[in-house]
Order: sequence, then structure tokens, then C-alpha cells
Amino acid sequence: MMLGVPVYVALRLGTFTTLLKTKTLINHTPSTKILILTSLHHLKRTISVSATTMSRPRVLITRRDVPQKALDIINDKCEVDIWHESFPIPRDELLKKISGKDAILCCVTEKIDKDVLDAAGPNLKVIGTMSVGHDHLNLEEIKRRGIKVGYTPGILTDATAELTVALLLATSRRMFEAHTEILNGGWKKSVWSPLWMNGWGLLGSTVGIFGLGRIGQGVLRRLQGFGVKRFIYSGHFPRKEGEEMGAEYVSFDNLLAESDFIIVTCALNDETREIFDDKAFAKMKNSAIIVNTSRGGVIHQDALIKALKTKQIRAAGLDVMVPEPLPTDHELITLPNCTLIPHIGSAEATTREAMATLTATNIVAGLEGHPMPAALC
Ligand code: DGY
Repeated sequence: MMLGVPVYVALRLGTFTTLLKTKTLINHTPSTKILILTSLHHLKRTISVSATTMSRPRVLITRRDVPQKALDIINDKCEVDIWHESFPIPRDELLKKISGKDAILCCVTEKIDKDVLDAAGPNLKVIGTMSVGHDHLNLEEIKRRGIKVGYTPGILTDATAELTVALLLATSRRMFEAHTEILNGGWKKSVWSPLWMNGWGLLGSTVGIFGLGRIGQGVLRRLQGFGVKRFIYSGHFPRKEGEEMGAEYVSFDNLLAESDFIIVTCALNDETREIFDDKAFAKMKNSAIIVNTSRGGVIHQDALIKALKTKQIRAAGLDVMVPEPLPTDHELITLPNCTLIPHIGSAEATTREAMATLTATNIVAGLEGHPMPAALC
């Protein structure tokens, strides 16, 4: 279908130019004939190129800084409209630019809701999100309209699991606090002191994982070398991978009560939204440390701030929060027992390139009517 129109137009143009050639060349000098032939050739090329262009699917890419490999894949087959900044496209521009597009390449920064889908109109057939998380997409509305969605599962598991372990260690061993002590002169006052900057190790601890999906499993596997005494996890159901790795399935309440370290790697949905609230923090040990690399919305942030300030729990390490970016005067930033990093779980060079490439491949496959390598719906 995509290639049919240009081929047809080119064939018709061939007949048309042959006719013109025979009719117009008869009474002219050789140099005028060459001029006419060249002009006809150019005319044919121009019409044929624009016919090809017109029939290529139109794709909106919501930012400029998408790895080139991915852009090449889309450019090769589609007409691209790319937002010119390395910054999320403003909402009003998104609403304008998506109109009439066949596909969109978006990131977690773009909320694809009913308004965006309405603005897109009936042409929109494919959404490719450069993420594994999809809470920014109104899937119900998307499915209702028969739009296909491609995403990037699997590819970022290792990078995110690795970062989660890094954040866990940075939080439990107080690395950011310690770094600040170098900057603010605190080190000079304390020099080397037996009790200064003491953190809490994993050896002999109980680690609880909330959401033992791909990333949770990746974290568990990486922590197996740290002398953890017991791994527990909770979620919808027990998983055979959990059993294989020696982790015990427990209720959410038991996870809260028994963990020294709680690692949040679940998806954000109506069941998990703000599941870590006042009541949950009250059930946790005062010595507990919570680390979240899933979505900020899983934690009730005001409840967390209260729990950290009152020492209801010991510390938190967050890669995700609400809102993102966090305002620089946000209360979370003022808490010494809170380690913050700016949603960089998958920010690893080869991972990001692979995510972009998979997203582009999903989009082209979807537009061509082939199965997407990673379809969400
Ligand atoms: C995802 O893929 O959902 C991450 O949060 C963004 O890398």
C-alpha cells in the first residue's frame, strides 16, 4: 500500500514524458532538444519525488536528541517532523504538530491522553514510546482507537538494575552526604572519626523487593554477592524466578515489616499508585531504607517526607519523584537522609541507543503492517 502510489505515478509519468518527447522534439535543433529533454527529466523527477514523499507516512518525533541510528531508520521510510529542541516538546506544540500524523515517537515526558489523540485525528496508527514504562499513555483510549503501541522492554533491564544497586549503596553508605562534607568543609572538622558518616551494610540483612519483574530480578541477581541473609518479595503472585533465586514470596505487609532495605521496581498503575503511604511507612522498621527506581507516583511523597523527617524510617534513595524535574526548592532536597538522582535508571549509552533503535523499528514495522518487535498493544 505504502509503495503502490509512487510506483503507479512513476509509470504514468513515463508514458506522459515519452509522449511529450515525440511531440515536442521534431522541429528543434539538437541543442534545444537537449534542453527540452533535460527539463522534462527534471520535471519527471520532481513530480515523482514529491509523489513518493506525499505517500510516505508522516511521523512526529518529539525531540531532537534521539540517537542518529534511530532517526535513520525512520527517515528511510517516513516523512519526519522532528521537534527542534533537545527538551520535551511543549504541550501546545505537541497538540499542534501531531495533527494528521501517522505515527509518533515519544518519551516518558509526553502524556499521550485523549486530547492528544483527538488532536492527532484518525490518521494516527502507531505510537512508539522510548521507554518500558507506559503510565504516560492512556492505553484504554489508545486501544479503543485501534492504535498500535511499541515500547522497549528488556533492553533497559540491566542498566536500570545496575543503577538501582548503585542508588541502594549510595543511600545506605551515605555517599552523597559524604561528598557534600568534602564540599562544605565538614571533612576538615571531622578528619577521620570512628563514628562519622557511618552507614549500614547489606551483609546479613533482609532485602525486600516490591515488584519482582525483569528489573526486580536483575537487582536481586546483582545483590547475591553482598551477603544478604534473606530476599523477600511481594507483588501479584509468586514467581518461579523468585523461587529459583531463593527469594521468598510474602504479603505486602510482611515485606514492609521485615525488610531492612525495600527496593521498589514495580510498574505504576491504579493498584500501586501511592501504595507507600503513611500507613505503609508506619509498618516499616525505623532502620529501614527504601529505594525507588520505578515511578515517583508509587510513593505518597508527603508521607515519605514525613517519615524521613520524623525518622519513622532511616533513609530513602529516589531516582523517580513527583514532579519531574523536581523544583530546586523542593523539601525533599533539604533532607540529608534522602539521596536523589534525576530519573537516570536507563541512562547508559548503549542502552539508550538500543532503546531508540527498537522504538524506531517498532514504528516502521507498525506502519508497514508487520508485527512490531516489541508490541505493547
Ligand atoms: C522507562 O523506560 O520507563 C524509564 O523510566 C525511562 O527510561
